[in-house]
Amino acid sequence: MTLPQRLSALLIVGVVGIAAVLFLAGRSGPGSSTALALDSGRTAEVDAFAAAYPVSVQASGVTREFNLVAAPSRLEVADGLDVEVWSYNGTVPGPELRVELGDTVVVALDNQLPQATSIHWHGVRVPNAMDGVPGVNQDPIAPGESFRYEFTPKDAGTFWFHSHNRGSEQIERGLYGSIVVVDPNEPVYDHDLVWMIDDWLLDGDGSLNENFNAMHDITHNGRWGNLVTVNGTVAPDVAIHSGDRVRVRMVNAANARVVAPVFDGVTPVGIAVDGMLAREPFDGQGFELAPGNRLDVEFVMPDGPVSVAENFNGEGYQIATLTPDETGASADPSAGVDAPFNPALPESAIFAGLGIDHEYSLDFTSPMMMGADWGFNGQTFDNTDTLTVDEGGVYTFRLRNDSQALHPIHFHGQFFMVTGIDGQLVDEGHLRDTVLVYPGQAVDIALRATDAGLWAVHCHIQEHAEAGMMTLLEVT
Ligand code: C2O
Ligand code: CU
Repeated sequence: MTLPQRLSALLIVGVVGIAAVLFLAGRSGPGSSTALALDSGRTAEVDAFAAAYPVSVQASGVTREFNLVAAPSRLEVADGLDVEVWSYNGTVPGPELRVELGDTVVVALDNQLPQATSIHWHGVRVPNAMDGVPGVNQDPIAPGESFRYEFTPKDAGTFWFHSHNRGSEQIERGLYGSIVVVDPNEPVYDHDLVWMIDDWLLDGDGSLNENFNAMHDITHNGRWGNLVTVNGTVAPDVAIHSGDRVRVRMVNAANARVVAPVFDGVTPVGIAVDGMLAREPFDGQGFELAPGNRLDVEFVMPDGPVSVAENFNGEGYQIATLTPDETGASADPSAGVDAPFNPALPESAIFAGLGIDHEYSLDFTSPMMMGADWGFNGQTFDNTDTLTVDEGGVYTFRLRNDSQALHPIHFHGQFFMVTGIDGQLVDEGHLRDTVLVYPGQAVDIALRATDAGLWAVHCHIQEHAEAGMMTLLEVT
């Protein structure tokens, strides 16, 4: 299928019948679990992952403390367009938390919202109790209460944080920010930019549409807005001196919109995905960022302007503009430095012989007229079977999209490598924590279970997750 065909294939044809069968077949109760035995023969695969990124980190002893107040506030998204939002510390995105690898991060979250909340550190490998999923890792933080998160990131890279309670409403209202972990051994760029890309569904009067979890959005590809912002503003213009070396860390913080930024005026070189360095440089042009994904690119600022736009679903949005600027020139442009890569990252072929340990079918779980629930293997959260795997093991999963909608699937707590699409070997050359599965597609992944605990696995289209598209992976 071509992209337009995929996107127009939004009708729920046939799903009602299939869902009815699943529904009548019944659901298993909460608490049941299926264990995948550790295959002790997989030493080469385990070693391959182990060489690519560490199991643990040595804390340097430095503690970085941040206070976040979640509260209603206002955001001027465009000239004269003031929107009522929910934010961390009064801005959307919230403050950028930039720390060094080895630092221990302490975040005191003060909930001044009218609803309970929590924070998930998307992509950061944290102790399970710090992962922020209410009812799984912690109690929801009630209005007026606070919670202290503490963790030492194990990986350098581009990560983000967002509410993990009623995400379809709270993320949409603006509760997200970036967390950048810097490896002091990596080259320093003249400009190290974070672009948090989001969209907003505004009503005609410019206010945020408050019909969260609309049935149409749940049964289709989630809530797509009508205004795209970068760091809370429409199409920012950034002045950069020609010849400067630039790193742009893009984060898709939208509830549902997939963005595929295209650079005009320069060729963006991909260096990292979902925070983790790629094996080697790759083409960063038009890379599809599903909700949750990150992409780091680098380039040298040319003499002329750079325009960044995205047109994933044909609507055409300007993302940002870079304008060459002769003022504030860097005395010593870092143009000669080598971009960082991770040549130790294994090729996906080494996992291809393992077969598939477990299949997840992604689909509706009940007839639409009965509430349009989404789920994994016919089960809506939290009536789901927990899959149990052993810490340190390498496992393979097939994510099979049996529906007509997009499903970006996110695994908490672990990274994985895509090994196949529709049974064909695929080598992306990078790790992920979120992968977009198109309608009818089967994506195979190899995952290394690194940290003990109960981890959420869910669709990152917030309306699908809210409608039950989540399950749990237990690492023991
Ligand atoms: Cu960014 Cu559970 O999600
Ligand atoms: Cu989904």
